[in-house]
Amino acid sequence: MNILVTGGAGYIGSHTCVSLMEAGHNITIVDNFINSKKEVLDRIKEISGKDFKFYKADVTNEVSVEKIFAENSFDGLIHFAGLKAVGESVEKPLEYYYNNVVSTLILAKACLKYKVNKFVFSSSATVYGENQVPFTETMELLPTTNPYGETKAISERILTDTAKANPDFSVSLLRYFNPIGAHESGLIGEDPNGIPNNLMPFVSKVATGQLEKLSVFGNDYDTPDGTGVRDYIHVVDLAEGHVAAIENLDTGVNVFNLGTGKGTSVLELVNAFIKINDIDVPYEIKGRRPGDIASCYADASKAEQELGWKTKKTIEDMVRDSWNFERKNY
Ligand code: NAD
Ligand code: WQD
Repeated sequence: MNILVTGGAGYIGSHTCVSLMEAGHNITIVDNFINSKKEVLDRIKEISGKDFKFYKADVTNEVSVEKIFAENSFDGLIHFAGLKAVGESVEKPLEYYYNNVVSTLILAKACLKYKVNKFVFSSSATVYGENQVPFTETMELLPTTNPYGETKAISERILTDTAKANPDFSVSLLRYFNPIGAHESGLIGEDPNGIPNNLMPFVSKVATGQLEKLSVFGNDYDTPDGTGVRDYIHVVDLAEGHVAAIENLDTGVNVFNLGTGKGTSVLELVNAFIKINDIDVPYEIKGRRPGDIASCYADASKAEQELGWKTKKTIEDMVRDSWNFERKNY
């Protein structure tokens, strides 16, 4: 297939581009580098040994999007481009609603006009809010505590309504859990600007000495060791989930959790990192972070049954590959 990948220079997008080309697909990337670097494109080429077309453009710009669709013939699209910092979305709601919702509207409109009938969307487990774990795709979505989560829920609704009104147009809404890890080459991985908000990049930067100490946000949750439990998924497994999703996308609205189905606590993850990489990560227990929930993990059975996809990599693989990327690139 010829696949347009928006946000293909980003963390999950770059790994997915590699997996798509390994599976024999042709890709075109569009990115404005608002949260990535152009060098990533060379690294995708180095890993895959393949070339691809690239547009530096903002997908909220309808003229740019129109040009990209007019110049190519796509079979499908994977829409990663978006802003993703939960805390920042509370500070700058308009930027988040504009970027994440307008991009979805413009791309869906272009798909209808140019008859691109497969739309795969990066959603998030955050849309489940405070439902009971494990989260299943049929659960009613609960309001999230931040604008970022709302942009995902609204985009899901826009795409669902569009597919209902246009029987030829099909969508796959992929709800990711917590992606960590990196490509085993160490050439691509998660490279956030500034001080990381997420646990794994923070741990990696403490291990290099760039940050002094990890704060563990709360040890009084109703979880086995009191620290927050999440469903960490290796980004390469996640990338392969996208290949399975677009290859199986034929009709209608399809919703899939992409997770492992297994919860891991903050302390379990930190201790695995210390043990596997044989490096110290100083930490201290602090108060809970506002907006956090105790536990978040997937019922991952639907993707396995319907897409034939399931995760292969372990927590040990994830912490090893995260550290391999960090130490080669910091
Ligand atoms: P990322 O920031 O690394 O990648 C996003 C890419 O999109 C970046 O390269 C950025 O430059 C680009 N971009 C953003 N806005 C753009 C625009 N208007 N036009 C063109 N390019 C634009 O993020 P990621 O972790 O790879 O996440 C990819 C998608 O998955 C996002 O939509 C994110 O919300 C979603 N998601 C991420 C996580 C996570 O924990 N990383 C979890 C669930 C969902
Ligand atoms: C994981 C656990 C923290 C940092 C976020 C978004 C979600 C999705 C994935 C995009 C929690 C604890 C963290 C630290 C800590 N993104 N923690 N010290 O919050 O589960 O999910 O990223 O869609 O929408 O909300 O991920 O990595 O920030 O936190 O103790 O310095 O680590 O409290 O229990 P989270 P995270």
